[in-house]
Amino acid sequence: MYNLLKGKRGIIFGALDSNSIAWKVAERAHEEGATFVLTNAPIAMRMGTINELAEKTGSQVIPADATSMEDIENLVEKSVEILGGKIDFVLHSIGMSLNVRKGKHYTESNYDFTHKGFDISALSFHRVMNVLYKKEAMSEWGSIVALTYMAAQRVFPDYNDMADNKAYLESIARSFGYFFGRDHKVRVNTISQSPTMTTAGSGVKGFDGFINYAEKMSPLGNATALECADYTISLFSDLTKKVTLQNLFHDGGFSNMGVSTAVMSEFTDEK
Ligand SMILES: NC(=O)c1ccc[n+]([C@@H]2O[C@H](COP(=O)([O-])OP(=O)(O)OC[C@H]3O[C@@H](n4cnc5c(N)ncnc54)[C@H](O)[C@@H]3O)[C@@H](O)[C@H]2O)c1
Repeated sequence: MYNLLKGKRGIIFGALDSNSIAWKVAERAHEEGATFVLTNAPIAMRMGTINELAEKTGSQVIPADATSMEDIENLVEKSVEILGGKIDFVLHSIGMSLNVRKGKHYTESNYDFTHKGFDISALSFHRVMNVLYKKEAMSEWGSIVALTYMAAQRVFPDYNDMADNKAYLESIARSFGYFFGRDHKVRVNTISQSPTMTTAGSGVKGFDGFINYAEKMSPLGNATALECADYTISLFSDLTKKVTLQNLFHDGGFSNMGVSTAVMSEFTDEK
């Protein structure tokens, strides 16, 4: 380990179980010397195993529904208190589509579901930054990261309305990131991660086939959750101070591929 986050304080959203990307980020942040608060929706406290992670990393858990301003305000106030100072890093690792969950096809969206999914998956990022900004809770040269997926730029039919949510999320990173950089010297980025076997990931129809396809298309293969955590740690560290307003692909090269020989071989006659 490199002590990359020694003395830094953070808030980590979205660790549900040991498959969660946020879980790996918490483990890596702990190894790198950070202290942090873990948070998730109240319902996730019952479904997941976040307390196990809290124990392992010496962290406190503060429940917060990311769609509630009141919950986020309480979370930020308490975190500063518990950690003993301003926040150096924040991970937004939250995503949920009710249309996906309830099997609603994109062309037949239930708009109540769409609103709710948008609020959870995209607007929550604005809410979190709004509270951090208003309360001046971020340290200078702090770093805020949200996780996203390439369906924000390209068509992946079964990703449903999460594609639209991710496009909005990435735009918020740029728009809020401008004000956060200008006023508080805080950087804001999104990491666009490979498909990864987690609770949120496996909710997408045909996810197995899709992971295999992405693996065959990517010169370096799919990026794992642990590799995503490593990349996230680098963005929280002081080694990336002038990286901001970026959507950073962490996908083994997938996003710049047209076709690979491995995929082509499935479609050629001579087998
Ligand atoms: N798994 C993938 O293939 C993949 C690929 C690219 C990006 N991502 C993104 O990574 C992030 C983390 O997802 P994951 O794959 O680790 O799955 P996950 O299911 O482990 O994490 C999603 C988290 O969102 C939380 N959440 C849902 N509603 C919430 C609410 N109202 N308030 C607060 N938290 C709430 C869940 O409790 C859960 O902890 C998401 O933004 C996801 O879209 C995932």
